[in-house]
Amino acid sequence: MHLPGHVAIITGGASGLGEATARRFSAAGASVAILDVNDAAGALLAAELGAHFEHCDVADATSVEHAVDGAQAALGIARVAVCCAGVGDGSKMIGHRGAHRLDIFQKVMAVNVTGTFHVLREVAWRMRDLEAANEDGERGVLVTTSSIAAFDGVDGGVAYSASKGAVAAMTLPLARDLARHGIRAVSIAPGTFETPMVAGMTDEFRGRLDHDTPFPERMGRPDEYAQLAQHIVENPILNGTVLRLDAGLRMRPSEGWK
Ligand SMILES: NC(=O)c1ccc[n+]([C@@H]2O[C@H](COP(=O)([O-])OP(=O)(O)OC[C@H]3O[C@@H](n4cnc5c(N)ncnc54)[C@H](O)[C@@H]3O)[C@@H](O)[C@H]2O)c1
Repeated sequence: MHLPGHVAIITGGASGLGEATARRFSAAGASVAILDVNDAAGALLAAELGAHFEHCDVADATSVEHAVDGAQAALGIARVAVCCAGVGDGSKMIGHRGAHRLDIFQKVMAVNVTGTFHVLREVAWRMRDLEAANEDGERGVLVTTSSIAAFDGVDGGVAYSASKGAVAAMTLPLARDLARHGIRAVSIAPGTFETPMVAGMTDEFRGRLDHDTPFPERMGRPDEYAQLAQHIVENPILNGTVLRLDAGLRMRPSEGWK
């Protein structure tokens, strides 16, 4: 499916990978709706790009419904959704202050897993009413964001890896459920990308990740994620799969992990 003239909803679009996707999709001629909890950054970016902004807490089903309704009222029914809204966490199973906090685990799952699900269900439900966009009968494309932490989780990653594993595992059943409606679903599993989410990493951990990355020996740039998101939209044969985007990085535990 081509981007020009189509509506794309991008959650977490106010920062990092979502922001890069909003920039690239806008430049490619899509009508972009940025959905984010960060009103200030989201509204500013939308104004710069000529995009639409909706406040949205993906963890809240009503907030997602209102935001997708708002985007539809402003731009029309979305043919593309890219789910980037997410939170990180580094809690260990047994920490200095006790066992892994349940509320932290639940928050990570609520945003990363249930939040992704809320957006997918609202968007897919509306997509089924669209005319096919091309001779393949495509109605829409759903892109989610997993992580290589779904597969090589490190110490301090129980909640985050569980959430990203769930996002990855949704992909094939989603593609199968939505096939009859002409909707594809693909997940991107990024390695480490230069975004505010990883800004808090210690220099030692960053250095080790770069060193462990075969080539190129650096973090990904957000637009390199956006390039893949665009390709997924444009390539009709990509469906039901999780694509690692990681320069060959396989994460290993931190020094002194046991
Ligand atoms: N940066 C990386 O190295 C990396 C690697 C693998 C996966 N990811 C995943 O990519 C996605 C984007 O991460 P990023 O690095 O761009 O981080 P980021 O912190 O720069 O951006 C995340 C965005 O999500 C928004 N957000 C957070 N909670 C939200 C909620 N409840 N409702 C709506 N919006 C919410 C934030 O306001 C922010 O704009 C996340 O799902 C993250 O887990 C990132």
